[in-house]
Amino acid sequence: MACFQLKHGLFVAFIVLIFVFQPHGTAATARKQLDGATAAVGQDPKPIWHRQFSIDFNETTKLLWWRWSTEGSMLYDALQQVEVVHRANGKGDRYCLSIHPRSDAPCTHLVVSGQRYLIFPELGECCKCCSSAGGCGILDPDWLDAAEYTGQTTMQGRTADSWTIRGLQPNNYYATADVPVGIPLELDQLPNDYITFHPDTLKLGPVSPKDVIVPEGCAEKCPLTSVCTILQAKASLQAALGWRGQGRGAKPSSSRAELSGGAAAVV
Ligand SMILES: *[C@@H]1O[C@H](CO)[C@@H](O)[C@H](O)[C@H]1NC(C)=O
Repeated sequence: MACFQLKHGLFVAFIVLIFVFQPHGTAATARKQLDGATAAVGQDPKPIWHRQFSIDFNETTKLLWWRWSTEGSMLYDALQQVEVVHRANGKGDRYCLSIHPRSDAPCTHLVVSGQRYLIFPELGECCKCCSSAGGCGILDPDWLDAAEYTGQTTMQGRTADSWTIRGLQPNNYYATADVPVGIPLELDQLPNDYITFHPDTLKLGPVSPKDVIVPEGCAEKCPLTSVCTILQAKASLQAALGWRGQGRGAKPSSSRAELSGGAAAVV
C-alpha cells in the first residue's frame, strides 16, 4: 500500500514537473546540456536578492486600455529595513495613481520605521500610507526563495537566468548569468507590470540616511479614496480578527503574499 502511494506520488510529481516546465523546455534543456559536464541534476542556480543596493529602472504598466511608462530608481536595505522607490511619473503606480490620478508628477514610496509614506516632491505633498502590519513594509528580502528556475535567455545583451514565482499571477524574474552574476535585469509582474532594471546603475551598499528622510509636515493619513485606506482597513480587520498570530509577528505580511496577489507592486 505504502509502495503504491509512493509510486503514485512520484507519478503525479512527474506529470506536474512535465506540465510545469514544458513551456521552458527548450531553454532548460539547453542549459542542462551546457552544464551537463559539471552540474548534477537539481542544482539550478538560485536567485540572489541583494540585501543592500540601489538600481535604476524603467517600468511599463498596463491597465485596461491605458499604458504608462516611467523611469525610476530603487534603494533597498533589508538590514536597515528601509526602501525608497522613486518614479519620474507616478501614474503607473497604483498607490500614487490612487492619490493623483490625473497628474504626471514624480512620486516616491518611502518605507522607514515600519511605515510607508507616499511623497510627491514637486507637488509638495506627503502622506503616511500604511504600516508594515498592513503589508506596507519593505519587500521581503527572501521573496525569491520560492522561485523556480526556468532557464537561460538573452536580455539587454547579457546572458540571463530566469525564474518564476508562482502566485495568483506569475512573476518572472531575470538576472545576469554572466559575470558579475546576479544583477537584476527584469521583473515582470504578469500581466500588467514590467520593470526593466538598468544593470550598469547597480550599486551595492547601505542606503544613506539622507535618502530616507520623511518630509516635514507629512500628513498622518493619505486621502480616504487612496489605496492606503483599503490596506489600513484590511490590517485593522485582520488585527481585530487575530489573523496575524504571534508566529508571524516579527515579519508582518510578507511582500511575497502581496506579490502573489499580482495587483500589488513589488517596488
Ligand atoms: C527601458 O529600458 C530598456 C533597457 O535600457 C530599453 O531597451 C527600453 O526601451 C526602455 N523602455 C522604455 C519604455 O523606456
